[in-house]
Amino acid sequence: MCGIVGYTGNEQAAPILLDGLARLEYRGYDSAGLAVRDGEKLAEVVKATGKLYHLADKTDQGRALPGACGIGHTRWATHGDPSMVNAHPHVSGNCSGSGSGQVESDVVGVHNGIIENFTELKEKLLHHGYVFYSDTDTEVVVKLVDYYYKKYKIGPVDAITRTMVRVRGSYALALMFRDYPGEIFAARKDSPLIIGTAQDASFLASDVPAILKYTRSVYYIGNLQVARVSPGQAKFYDLNGDEVALPLTEITWDAAAAEKGGYEHFMLKEIHEQPAAVRDTLNSLVKEGRVVLSDAGLTDDMIRSLTQIDIVACGSAWHVGMAAQYVLEDLACLPVRVELASEFRYRSVPLTEHTLVVVISQSGETADSLAALRVAKERGALTLAVVNVIGSSIAREADHVLYTLAGPEIAVATTKAYSAQLIAMDALAVQMAWVRGTVSQERYEKMLEELCTIPDKIRRILEEKERLQWFSSKIVNAHDIFFIGRGLDYAISLEGSLKMKEISYIHSEAYAAGELKHGTISLIEHNTLVIGVLTQSLLFEKTVSNMMECKSRGAYLMGVTTNGHFDLEDSADFTVYIPKTDEHFVASLAVVPLQLLGYYTSVSRGLDVDKPRNLAKSVTVE
Ligand code: AGP
Repeated sequence: MCGIVGYTGNEQAAPILLDGLARLEYRGYDSAGLAVRDGEKLAEVVKATGKLYHLADKTDQGRALPGACGIGHTRWATHGDPSMVNAHPHVSGNCSGSGSGQVESDVVGVHNGIIENFTELKEKLLHHGYVFYSDTDTEVVVKLVDYYYKKYKIGPVDAITRTMVRVRGSYALALMFRDYPGEIFAARKDSPLIIGTAQDASFLASDVPAILKYTRSVYYIGNLQVARVSPGQAKFYDLNGDEVALPLTEITWDAAAAEKGGYEHFMLKEIHEQPAAVRDTLNSLVKEGRVVLSDAGLTDDMIRSLTQIDIVACGSAWHVGMAAQYVLEDLACLPVRVELASEFRYRSVPLTEHTLVVVISQSGETADSLAALRVAKERGALTLAVVNVIGSSIAREADHVLYTLAGPEIAVATTKAYSAQLIAMDALAVQMAWVRGTVSQERYEKMLEELCTIPDKIRRILEEKERLQWFSSKIVNAHDIFFIGRGLDYAISLEGSLKMKEISYIHSEAYAAGELKHGTISLIEHNTLVIGVLTQSLLFEKTVSNMMECKSRGAYLMGVTTNGHFDLEDSADFTVYIPKTDEHFVASLAVVPLQLLGYYTSVSRGLDVDKPRNLAKSVTVE
């Protein structure tokens, strides 16, 4: 989950590379580095540990690094600790000390991904006289390219394709060769990489925000393809070294959408963008009073033929699946399994052509989810991707795609994309129910009407955010927080718990409320915070009882429930109310106070809300 950038043109490269890395820092931020070439001169490499601003300061915002061709990298460590010597770029020659300075090497490169067989390749290269200075898999792959480049005296493209045949794992590589000034070579397998072109300039990046300021014309390089990039031009090759033609795509994003827009953090901005994200996603699906799935390619016959739905995802996207399971089962009367992608990909889950595997992913690049999609296709299932990034790997490889229209999501902790996924799955469930005849026309119309009220109801909740801000200051020193609920409320609790722990670093667990008494309740002690989610009327009293069991053991209770359940205040110490809606769709509302609570708690603790420690926005490694 690193970020890579490249630039070649007639401007100073370093400032452009730093600007691009700053927009990719959410992908990893434990060290960073640049390699820049000034005409025929050798590349100059500069690295720094910690956040990107250390590198910017070290290079005087890039002004100290002359040259119009370069590559850059911001790291989320996979092999080797976050140190100067392990920071990218890496070189084919030897490298003294910190790894900065002019490099007497034929090849210099940056990499996002994991080389799984790097140990055996390292042994091979050591046998051929190579010396290694770092613990990284990236240094191995750069040296392997150099090995083939020298051994067969072939050009960079052939040296790279030979390397790709020997390497196992995932990579987005950007390389510069001493003999090819002004050019950058790239290769991709499973890790994201795009190439942009403009007048007399070309750009490489792991993600669109890094180059949107400079160009909207991008190529999505395919898996196992190589690029040769020069100012204003890009050529592409397959594994045989044969040239291939790729379509040039125009990015329609608004550049401002990738900025904070006056909010203190991207996360707060994106929480407030949820009404629009939900509305835009709904509007893309609901047309003339019905859910239209033809753009996704799902026909009524396909829907009628289904006997099983498997939802496969990671993290918050998996939580969306957990919520969608209750809705789909209840409305469409279909058996639904929800699987963690990292587990699904290694299990022997029986699938048939009547199984619909739904892969949910904001980035569309999550390695486990992409691998699970491939397994599902190999086993003959019908696959549907629900993704937020157009042209992402999962979107391109699934049989059918349903795009959420949340816009670029920068904060590592997802909010608006989660909400957009939720509403998309709700709309899918309603349509499936109608097609399969499990709901009446009248109920179908009433549910669609209710779905369209969700954006405004989210907006109303956001207007009450000060109460969550106040309460967060009371829990800033909590050590353990439990989120509990039953049915759909349990699924909502899962997301509330992840939001809290991933950005405030407070240990938190989500628990099915009815399960607490089977062991975990032993952890409840004086002042332990227990947050109950109570939106399902048939389960309300039961969850209250579970909360009271905790209170009798010293717990402090917070409750999230719908307007009207004012009796909750007799039990809970702090209660948050959300507008009423069809109980199938209430997750889109109940999650908002929990997002705000996590956000404000993180701010109260003085933490980096948008870039929490140890995390990255898109987990493109196993
Ligand atoms: C959510 O706040 C986390 N950042 C993380 O769990 C995320 O949802 C997960 O990594 C899946 O990412 P994806 O939706 O891009 O596949």
